[in-house]
Amino acid sequence: MIEERQMDVTVKCLAGCEEVLEQEMLSLGATSTQVGNRVVHAKADMEWVCRANLCLRSALRVIIPFRSFRAKTPEVLYHKCKKVRWEDIFGVDQTFAVDATVHSQYFSHSMYAAYKLKDAIVDQFRLRFDKRPNVDTQNPDYRFHLHIQEEQCTLSLDTSGRSLHLRGYKVRQGEAPLSEVLAASILLISDWEPGMPLLNPMCGSGTFLTEAALIALNRPPQVNTDFGFRRWNDFDPALWDRALEYARDRMVDRDVRIRGFDQDRKVLNAAIMNIDAAGLGEFIHIEKQDFFAWQPNMRDGHVFINPPYDERLKENDIEQMYQQIGDTLKQYYAGNTVWILTGNRAAAKRIGLRTSMKKPLWNGPIECRLLKFEMYRGSKSND
Ligand SMILES: C[S@@+](CC[C@H](N)C(=O)[O-])C[C@H]1O[C@@H](n2cnc3c(N)ncnc32)[C@H](O)[C@@H]1O
Repeated sequence: MIEERQMDVTVKCLAGCEEVLEQEMLSLGATSTQVGNRVVHAKADMEWVCRANLCLRSALRVIIPFRSFRAKTPEVLYHKCKKVRWEDIFGVDQTFAVDATVHSQYFSHSMYAAYKLKDAIVDQFRLRFDKRPNVDTQNPDYRFHLHIQEEQCTLSLDTSGRSLHLRGYKVRQGEAPLSEVLAASILLISDWEPGMPLLNPMCGSGTFLTEAALIALNRPPQVNTDFGFRRWNDFDPALWDRALEYARDRMVDRDVRIRGFDQDRKVLNAAIMNIDAAGLGEFIHIEKQDFFAWQPNMRDGHVFINPPYDERLKENDIEQMYQQIGDTLKQYYAGNTVWILTGNRAAAKRIGLRTSMKKPLWNGPIECRLLKFEMYRGSKSND
């Protein structure tokens, strides 16, 4: 399955991040891209798949569809899954895992659909070998994905084997951490460019800071490169070496002006550990500061803020806090572009500044808005 030939690949991403993912995929050499809902489809070869897992910042998983069929009942689904020659893909002594996403009037439970797939795989092996492969949900040799859209079913091989937000550098979490993939996607959506000053007040465990430095230095976002496809029988180490070389050749050395702060010492320590684990300690300056009392002395920079939403991190008076954020921005941040990601839309209205962009995004289960504010001198207020 992994010769160097063009094949269909599908890359999953967060809602609202499809366009940035498409740009990333094209710049890595994919062709015939097609944007869907939380996915981008393309044509690419296996070397590209290696590169994509290593280098894509806004991707959640890279999967290779290999079989499509129609099914409206669990019995037909099972039967069609059983028709695949699973032994051509993996061995009875290897482990596997399955997952499913379902958007269908015929199938209401994704878990149930995944069970049908698992049963079909196990039963087919038993029939032919009198033995079955084991399921390992954590660290399988092969992970299969079943997607059902109404009656259209697609089976794919999950080349990533895990969600790509698990970069491997987050050794400590804050109480309300941001997904690495969301932070990277926001940085790519924004018009911040490497070389421009970047400030991240309320930096928490340092996700924006780490992803920004990785982008600025054009380093791959993945510290942990134990991708699923590297355990496959037909894994070609030469392709993987070429992907590593591709990434290495593109790294740059540049003056990185990235700073962050938080008022909480404990969370700052977590940020320091994460930044160090990513090998970025020398590129990021962080310190303990109170956003409302500190003057940044920065111009022509980009400021990314992910303030508490009053969901996981509670504030005494969240609306008053957001009003104070707006006042502080007016007072100290003129001449910069400010990006705020918040899941509290009522409180966001209290910022009292005119947005030049509003984009819906999801931080896990929380529906958020990414707000952009151009902080001209004497910035226009909403009222
Ligand atoms: C939603 S969390 C940010 C999470 C962060 N994006 C991450 O990746 O972990 C909000 C952060 O704002 C910080 N914070 C709240 N009020 C602050 C203030 N007045 N000055 C500085 N930091 C503040 C909290 O300590 C917390 O770490």
